[in-house]
Amino acid sequence: MLNGGAGRRFPKRRPASPPPGDPPGGGEALRVVDVTKWYGGVQALDRVSMSVDAGEVVALVGDNGAGKSTLVDIIAGVVAPDEGEFYVRGERVAIRSTNDAALFGIRTVHQEHTLADNLSVVENLFLGRELSHGVGPLLRLDFASMQQRTSAAMSDLGITTIADIRAPVEKMSGGQRQSVSVARATLEKYPIVVLDEPTAGLGVAQVHRVMQLVLRLRAQGTAIVIVSQNIEEIFEVADRIVVLHLGKVGAILRRADTTPEAVVSAVMGVA
Ligand SMILES: Nc1ncnc2c1ncn2[C@@H]1O[C@H](COP(=O)(O)OP(=O)(O)O)[C@@H](O)[C@H]1O
Ligand SMILES: [Mg+2]
Repeated sequence: MLNGGAGRRFPKRRPASPPPGDPPGGGEALRVVDVTKWYGGVQALDRVSMSVDAGEVVALVGDNGAGKSTLVDIIAGVVAPDEGEFYVRGERVAIRSTNDAALFGIRTVHQEHTLADNLSVVENLFLGRELSHGVGPLLRLDFASMQQRTSAAMSDLGITTIADIRAPVEKMSGGQRQSVSVARATLEKYPIVVLDEPTAGLGVAQVHRVMQLVLRLRAQGTAIVIVSQNIEEIFEVADRIVVLHLGKVGAILRRADTTPEAVVSAVMGVA
C-alpha cells in the first residue's frame, strides 16, 4: 500500500480562498483530500478531507479511535495512506517520509511523543539540528547558544519545573516530557505545525501556556492543526473544528458559529 496516487487521476484543484473575516488568512497552507486508511480489516479513515490556512488554528476532535492520530501520522509522513491527495500551499505533493513532511514545512508532535531518554533537554531540542559556529576544522557545537535558546523556549512555555536543562529527560514526569516535545516542535519556524494531544497530562497552568503559544504561532501566520479532547481549550484557540466520527468527517464547524454542545453532539455522532 503506497502513498500516492500512482495511476490515479487528480482533478486540477484551485486552492480554496481563505475564509472571510477573522483570521485574515494567509491562504491555504495544507489540504488533504479523500484520505482513506485501512489497518487490516479496520478502516481508520474513510475519505477524510480537510484544510488549514496560514494563520489559522484547526482543531481535530473526535472520540478515541475516531482516526485523529492516523490522520496526523499520515500528514507527518509516518503512516502511508491507502488513498488520498495532499496539497501544500496549493501544490500537489506526496508525503512519503518524515523528511518529505519537513521539506514541505510540516512539523509534528506525535501523541506518542518520542524523546531520547538518555539525552538532556537541550540535546533533545536540538537533536539533528545542532547549532554550531566556525567552519572546517574549527567547526564547534555552539552549546552556549543552544542552552540560551532552550532556556528561552522553556520560559516561553512557562516551564519552570525543569531545574536543569542539561540533565537527561528520562527522570522527568510525563508533563515535563510533554512540554519538552512541544518546545521542540516550536523552536524553529515551520509554516505548518501539527500537534496531537499536546496538552494531555499537563496541569492547568501549562495547558494555558501551550494555548498561548498556539495563539502566538497563529499570529505569526503559522497554520496549526491541534488534536484535542478538551472542549475548553478548543474554544480558546480554534478557528475551525473538524470533527471525526468513526473515521469520517462528521462536521466542520466554525468556532464563531457553533457551541460546545454542538461539537460534543458531532463527536458522539448525534447530528
Ligand atoms: N498501527 C495500527 N494498527 C492497527 N490498527 C490501528 C493502528 N493505529 C490505529 N489503529 C486503529 O485505527 C483506528 C483509529 O485510531 P487512531 O487514529 O489512533 O484514533 P484516535 O487518535 O482518534 O484515537 C482505531 O480503530 C485504532 O484501533
Ligand atoms: Mg490519538
